[in-house]
Amino acid sequence: MIQMILSRNLRVKQGKIWPKPQNVAKLTEFRIYRWSPDDNENPRIDTYFVDRDACGPMILDGLLYIKNYIDQTLALRRSCREGICGSCAMNIDGSNSLACTKGMDEVKYPIRIYPLPSMPVIKDLVPDLTHFYAQHQVIEPWLQTTSPMPEKEWLQSREDRQRLNGLYECILCACCQTSCPSYWWNSDRYLGPAVLLQAYRWIADSRDEARGERLNNLEDPFRLYRCHTIINCAQTCPKGLNPAKAIAEIKSLMIERRF
Ligand code: SF4
Ligand code: SF4
Ligand code: FES
Repeated sequence: MIQMILSRNLRVKQGKIWPKPQNVAKLTEFRIYRWSPDDNENPRIDTYFVDRDACGPMILDGLLYIKNYIDQTLALRRSCREGICGSCAMNIDGSNSLACTKGMDEVKYPIRIYPLPSMPVIKDLVPDLTHFYAQHQVIEPWLQTTSPMPEKEWLQSREDRQRLNGLYECILCACCQTSCPSYWWNSDRYLGPAVLLQAYRWIADSRDEARGERLNNLEDPFRLYRCHTIINCAQTCPKGLNPAKAIAEIKSLMIERRF
C-alpha cells in the first residue's frame, strides 16, 4: 500500500477559537482556512461565530461580518456580490462555489471554508490565479477575423447567436478548473475545463474566422486530451454551465476535420 506523508509545513493545525457571543438568538459557526506568507507558520483552521441577525443570508455576508466585526486580518476576494465577477470563488463545504450566491442555510454546519484547491495561496482564501490567466491567454480569447470591419456591429443570425448560450455566461471563476482531477495532476500542460470552455466559446462563434488555427492550437496530447470525462467540472459550476460538453464538442470537431 502506498503511504502518503504530508510534509510538515503542509499540515493544517487547529487555530484560534474566537469567543462565542452570549445571548444571541441565531449563531452560525464558521471554520476557515488561514495561512499567511509572513509568519512562517503552518496553515490553521480558525473558528468564528456569526450573529445571523446582524448580517445577510449568504456565505459572503458571513465572511464579511467576520472581517468587519471579529477579525480584520481575514483575507478574501469579492467584488460584485451577485455572481458576476467570479472573484469570491472558494471551497465551501467541500465543493467549489461562489460565496456570494451560496446561502448559509444551503450547507452543513459548521460551515467549512477553504481556498480553491490545487492553486497556490497568496493568503487565507485568496488563490494565486496567475497561471490560470496565462493559460486563458493561450487560447487567444478575442474575435479574430480578416474580413473588413463592418460599419456598425458584427451581426449574427438568431441561430448563430444561440450557439453561444451556455458558453458566454462563463465568469472565469475557476471553480470548475480547480475541481478537475486531471487539472490537479497536469495543470502545467492541460488547459483545464474553464479555459477549454472559453476556447470553444470562440470556436463556436460564427463571426470568428480563426477556427482552424484555434483547433491547431489545441491539437496536443496534454492541452485538450487530458480531459477524461470525469464531469466534476459540470457538477461544480455555479453558473450551471457544462465545460465537459464544450470539451467534447472540440474533440468532435478535431475528428470531423480529419475526414
Ligand atoms: S470532464 Fe474533463 S474537464 Fe471536466 S472534470 Fe472531468 S476531466 Fe476535468
Ligand atoms: S465554466 Fe463555470 S465554473 Fe468554470 S470558470 Fe466558467 S463560470 Fe466558473
Ligand atoms: S463577489 Fe462577484 S461573484 Fe461573488
